[in-house]
Amino acid sequence: MTQSQFDACNRRIDYLRVSVTDRCNLRCRYCMPEEGVPSIGHERVLRLEEIARLVGIGVGAGIRHVRLTGGEPLVRKGVVDLVRLIRAMPGIESISMTTNGVALAGMANALAEAGLDRVNISLDSLRPERYRSITRIGNLADALAGIEAARAAGLAPVKINMVVMRDVNADEVVDYALRTLAEPWHVRFIEYMPLGDGEEDARAEYVPSHLIRARIEEALGSLLSADVTGAGPARNWRLPKAQGTIGFISAVSEHFCSSCNRMRLSSDGKLVPCLFSDAEFDLRGPLRDGADDAALAAIWRDALAHKPARHHLDEALTTTHHRMSWIGG
Ligand code: GTP
Ligand code: 5AD
Ligand code: SF4
Repeated sequence: MTQSQFDACNRRIDYLRVSVTDRCNLRCRYCMPEEGVPSIGHERVLRLEEIARLVGIGVGAGIRHVRLTGGEPLVRKGVVDLVRLIRAMPGIESISMTTNGVALAGMANALAEAGLDRVNISLDSLRPERYRSITRIGNLADALAGIEAARAAGLAPVKINMVVMRDVNADEVVDYALRTLAEPWHVRFIEYMPLGDGEEDARAEYVPSHLIRARIEEALGSLLSADVTGAGPARNWRLPKAQGTIGFISAVSEHFCSSCNRMRLSSDGKLVPCLFSDAEFDLRGPLRDGADDAALAAIWRDALAHKPARHHLDEALTTTHHRMSWIGG
């Protein structure tokens, strides 16, 4: 194991989230304005071979798990080929994706064949009209078809992400919990973080995980602890006899920074050590100027050395210009 795997706080950083595009085929109200985000510009977006080269540099610095994100990763042309390129790299132990699922039904088999292990699917409502309202243009049936296709293609475990918003969808948390009884849905209730370009007020809509859990236990009884494949921050539970599980991602109420294991690569080639810090390290410029692997690895080490110890959301001190659609959560 190389020493460069560890950051200044002695955290092992072996997980890379790669945003392959900031474009999206939905316009979720909490994430994007109706007209979409201003374009990064074709020239500034990494080409697939450039992404693969940088992932390779990451592998040299200890990365073992790669998650493709967006925007919406499935709108990026060639994303299946990218999965194949990453799968072929010695050292990679898992490849996963976070998607809204609406284009997944037609792609799940190809992605699985290319070497994708599993998917996390964003689904903020189980009610068709509400789903349309939150996403502005999405059809619930498309996302559900994507979930079913993922299961059929063996992209397991399939995780379902719900960002809980007090006056938008919090009344559905028991419905989501009930879905885990009969189906292998690994639902995660996510605390709403003050990020994004949307129109919701994250601090007003935020619901702490303990309240969601209390509501579920009041309706359905005590949760039992559970184990779910994954390297992220969710804490997982299940209902007795359920096929799926119930997780909580509590970035606001209970920050998990001391066990953070990840770096982020944006679609325009910046290495971002923390979701809530503006620090970013440009890899695209040096890459296109002909930097060799050793020079790129040195930038990677520099980024690792500058990974913050923690965020300060709880003290409302955190400010960041990072858009969720740019950095992929
Ligand atoms: P696995 O455990 O590997 O399945 O992945 P994950 O849960 O980390 O990934 P996913 O993309 O599904 O993210 C779920 C939620 O966790 C999203 O709202 C992310 O923004 C949030 N999240 C992921 N990583 C971090 C992190 O390092 N810090 C914070 N604050 N939130 C994160
Ligand atoms: N707070 C919490 N989660 C968010 N996501 C997007 N914006 C936010 C936010 N402000 C979620 C998406 C997706 C994942 C990558 O991040 O719904 O599931
Ligand atoms: Fe790690 Fe930053 Fe996320 Fe905290 S907020 S867990 S330091 S990436």
